[in-house]
Amino acid sequence: MKPLEGKTVVLGVTGGIAAYKAAALCSRLVSWGASVRVMMTAGAAKFITPLTMQTLSRHPVATDVFDERDASVVQHIDWADAADLVIVAPATANIIGKMAGGIADDMLSTTLLAATAPILVAPAMNVHMWEHPAVVENVRKLGSRGVYFVEPGTGQLACGYVGKGRLAEPDEIAEAAARLLAGPRPLAGRKVLITAGGTVERIDPVRYIANDSSGKMGFALAEAARDYGADVTLIYARTDGPPPGGIEAIRVESAAEMHEQVLSRLGRVDAVVKAAAVADYRLQQVSDKKLKKDGETLTLELVRNPDILQAIGDWKKDHPGERRPFTVGFAAETGDLEKYAMDKLKRKNCDLIAANDVSAPGAGFGTETNIVSVYGPEGLVEHIPQSVKRKVAERLWQLAAERMGPA
Ligand code: CTP
Repeated sequence: MKPLEGKTVVLGVTGGIAAYKAAALCSRLVSWGASVRVMMTAGAAKFITPLTMQTLSRHPVATDVFDERDASVVQHIDWADAADLVIVAPATANIIGKMAGGIADDMLSTTLLAATAPILVAPAMNVHMWEHPAVVENVRKLGSRGVYFVEPGTGQLACGYVGKGRLAEPDEIAEAAARLLAGPRPLAGRKVLITAGGTVERIDPVRYIANDSSGKMGFALAEAARDYGADVTLIYARTDGPPPGGIEAIRVESAAEMHEQVLSRLGRVDAVVKAAAVADYRLQQVSDKKLKKDGETLTLELVRNPDILQAIGDWKKDHPGERRPFTVGFAAETGDLEKYAMDKLKRKNCDLIAANDVSAPGAGFGTETNIVSVYGPEGLVEHIPQSVKRKVAERLWQLAAERMGPA
């Protein structure tokens, strides 16, 4: 079967030199079985003719919001409703700005506002435009609203510059579209909160206490939840790389900051997964000046941090009538997995505990794979054998979604 068989794709083309690549994209989508409806802005029609796109898509091309050919429907609403996916490729800085601002002043921008299907944007522009704070902010804003992006590539740009801004290759865009349309969406309509990374507890302005967490498991959980249709907020501390796109990502440093960010969202989320490695202790007194060495030994006085997972468990007990987050805790252990996991599940009032033996090869901090035993109130639910963290994340979300009840 063709990857896009039975799917309707609205392809919006905007006015940049890369508009010619929309022809190759259109023909790829058609060859993969999609019914493609092309919309072109006035600018796009200066670079490539509607006749080209009509011939490739085998459907009339929409350019003018007031050019209503079929009296039985309102075209931009009709197309928006029919779409399984809307792709904007190439997307200029202008259309990205209009989408971020909710502006509807032509056929494409109006349809984008009316569409409830997922939207995939493939930007193309000059490198300085792509890096302009306004564009950066607009892309971030759209990402946090669940708009998907196929990032531009780096290379020779039509304007003569070499840098980031070149439209992704048509095949790459078509593959992203196929991925979006293929997957199951067990978390559609859900709002989920994930914590990732290792918290940092300051000693003085240049020193801190940290841990080995890379954030990879939390990032994989955020990515998997996003692709399963959830509205994702990620609260992340120190990690090895940047967080995934298409989600709301909030950077924190200490356990106290993470605690505050998580607690302020309770009552508004359907699930919380606490993959972060949170420091149990912080400095009693953080020095605002760099500490000088003036003795053979140094004693740092530490005090207990708030236990965030415990606080969520307590919040659930204290707010019986409110939207109850399904809670998944992690337990990093070096033995006696079941005993500690079940103890944590009960003590912290969790729905599931993902326990891993961090001393086992292929599991735990910094590795690409993980080995996880999932426990619920009834005991061991499932043992997930060594798999890449993304696969572990998908399985965890499937188990959570089965237990969360209707959205
Ligand atoms: N956790 C948390 N806040 C803390 C410490 C831990 O939310 N201050 C969460 C972690 O994000 C993880 C779970 O609690 O999901 C288990 O962490 P762990 O440190 O293993 O739990 P503890 O109960 O502190 O375990 P131990 O008694 O072994 O120290």
